[in-house]
Amino acid sequence: MRCDKTAAWKQLQQHAEGFAGFDLRDAFAGDATRVARLSQAAPHVFADLSKNHTDAATEALLLELARQTGLTAHRDAMFRGEAINHTEDRAVMHWLLRQPQGSLPGDLAEPLALVHGTLAPMLAYAEQVRADAQITDVVNIGIGGSDLGPQMAVLALQDFVLPGKRFHFVSNVDGHELAGVLKGLKAENTLFLIASKTFTTIETMTNARSALAWFQAQGGTDVALHFAALTTNVSAAAEFGITTTFGFWDWVGGRYSMWSAIGLPVAIAIGAKGFQDLLAGAHAMDQHFQTAPLEANLPVRLGLLDVWYRNFLNFTSRSIAPYHSALRRVPAYLQQLEMESNGKRVDRNGQALSYGTSPVLWGEPGTNGQHAYFQMLHQGTDIVPLEFIAVKKPTHSLKDHQELLLANVIAQAQALMLGKSDAGGHKHFTGNRPSTFLLLDELTPASLGALIALQEHRVFVSGSVWGINSFDQWGVELGKVLAKDIHARIVSGDASGLDASTATLLERVRS
Ligand code: F6P
Repeated sequence: MRCDKTAAWKQLQQHAEGFAGFDLRDAFAGDATRVARLSQAAPHVFADLSKNHTDAATEALLLELARQTGLTAHRDAMFRGEAINHTEDRAVMHWLLRQPQGSLPGDLAEPLALVHGTLAPMLAYAEQVRADAQITDVVNIGIGGSDLGPQMAVLALQDFVLPGKRFHFVSNVDGHELAGVLKGLKAENTLFLIASKTFTTIETMTNARSALAWFQAQGGTDVALHFAALTTNVSAAAEFGITTTFGFWDWVGGRYSMWSAIGLPVAIAIGAKGFQDLLAGAHAMDQHFQTAPLEANLPVRLGLLDVWYRNFLNFTSRSIAPYHSALRRVPAYLQQLEMESNGKRVDRNGQALSYGTSPVLWGEPGTNGQHAYFQMLHQGTDIVPLEFIAVKKPTHSLKDHQELLLANVIAQAQALMLGKSDAGGHKHFTGNRPSTFLLLDELTPASLGALIALQEHRVFVSGSVWGINSFDQWGVELGKVLAKDIHARIVSGDASGLDASTATLLERVRS
């Protein structure tokens, strides 16, 4: 049933009305079990949800909403391989990419065998590149899901990256990016990975063609050795002239694809064993999501909290603050994950929604954000729930830095909640500002895998409750079509039939 038609939705609306005076400080004072009740351990991730605007009754009603909207049936349909991406008639099986070999019977046995039949040669290739001292630079050319995941993961796991190899990520069609990377490279030392699920994305194809032209102009001849394609469209890669191809399947969404051949830069960076650990960490979270009771299921608790905030407390944005500089691309990664998945205005039947869906996601690593925009989070007029991500053990030996970093992240969560009322006016902090605290013991391939799978599943949960298709992205098509038209007009100068603003801009850039 559509969420806004359920009894739980109406009860949540009433509950929210009585929530106007909710105060975190009172909630803690009145309930000694609050931290225990609102803490949740999951594989590799501990979550403290207690500093959120929620109480036992909210959680109970949200769980009821999950039941009344059929969350578990929808989750199980995904894990059975049903075509839940119905607008593209596709299964949603990124989770299968991290499923151990031979572990599934029935209809899923065959695709799982295909997964491992593709993973093995990809990892063997990664090891071969690692052993090849001539290749010093790996350039990933891809955009969106074919860029953000591998880029985020290679950065996050920089302590595990093989010394002597450099990794570059070119996504933007802006020639400054490709030109800037190529400036420092030599053809004989470079491996280009052309990452595109469709192998048609204009930015990626344009960059790939220019990279190939540069390679040949530098005297490079062995394309088979210096170019590999990561794609579901093997024939298009062959037509382009690339013979080394690692494939995947239409049931892997672009923003869910870092576990597939799209993860090859990660596998080259951290090795086959590291990549297997990344998959294993994600798989542990898949199992948690599938088997933990809803009330002790971290992706479920986070996803339902997202629904509560968006639809009942009307918070329209969420800020991500990773307190680990290597996690600095995580906010951008999560932006695509949440906003491309759940930025939808119609339900699964194509009917317009009368309630909000994806919040705006944004963020920067702490402590940098503190000295930039945290002012607004502490004293602005909007309430923005914050999601802190902290890591206990550092890989450096600068003990005082780590202590200071952890002190800052804990203190920020505390300050947002407690505020400061002994001064008036400009110096008054209202406090009562919500935050979630995610804590990893250490940042490893396994814990990163678990953290990212957690985020994938929490997006699934809110999308499922909202009754939308989280796995298509028709909204990006219009811009692509219009860009083609404007591109032709930039070349020809034809501004006929355009609106006045577009025509003027066209003339300005051409003059
Ligand atoms: O246009 C959006 C999108 O399709 C994303 O969903 C995807 O991650 C990105 O473009 C790149 O697509 P591809 O991997 O097919 O080049």
